[in-house]
Amino acid sequence: MTYKSIAVDGPSGAGKSTLAKMLAEALGYLYVDTGAIYRTVGLSACRRGVDPGDGAAVVPMLAGLDIDLRHGEDGLQHMYLDGEDVTDEIRRPEISKYASAVSALPQVRAFLMDMQRELARRQNVIMDGRDIGTVVLPGADVKIFLTAAPEDRAKRRYAELLQRGHGGDYETVLRDIIQRDENDTRRAAAPLRQAEDALLVDTTGNSLEESFDVLLNTIKERLDA
Ligand code: DC
Repeated sequence: MTYKSIAVDGPSGAGKSTLAKMLAEALGYLYVDTGAIYRTVGLSACRRGVDPGDGAAVVPMLAGLDIDLRHGEDGLQHMYLDGEDVTDEIRRPEISKYASAVSALPQVRAFLMDMQRELARRQNVIMDGRDIGTVVLPGADVKIFLTAAPEDRAKRRYAELLQRGHGGDYETVLRDIIQRDENDTRRAAAPLRQAEDALLVDTTGNSLEESFDVLLNTIKERLDA
């Protein structure tokens, strides 16, 4: 039996994870957050005191890396590093920078490829990331490229950080978002870009419900086509 897959790519803070999670629930699909996997590699580099931008230091670390992705009974994805649940810790802003740096290394991307593809081989998935429609699942049944103005994305990220009790200030969040966009789109290895057959959805100024309705209708149309 072959399963359906939906790829949701776009820059950070466009609402990918919130919307993909809601869509997964509505469709009965498994939600996979691939950014969390890169974040876990970033956390490992951070804990070991490894410079995340230095391939010569990060690559030897991969062989001994014990990363696991499991979905709880609530359907939510948890990340484990060396057996420890690090789901909350990988959301720290410092780890965002580590994740962005390690994700630019082609060896890290290759190392994580099977893990991501394997998940899509076993069930219907909606997977969010930067290169799902272009590299990880080029044959995905539906591809969405979700974006929004940097200020809108920074506002959402800032609210999310406050909610998680991480603190910080809006200006720093905006600066970090712009910096990460640069890193993610300019890197040579699987840069963030819209797949040719992806549908562009801009959520600037839209409420979550509005974006959700647009996406759900689009996905259903494409799945039925
Ligand atoms: O989606 P996120 O912000 O949690 O992702 C963290 C970092 O991982 C981000 O800077 C880009 C990188 N990433 C990637 O390169 N490819 C993916 N499929 C997902 C995330």
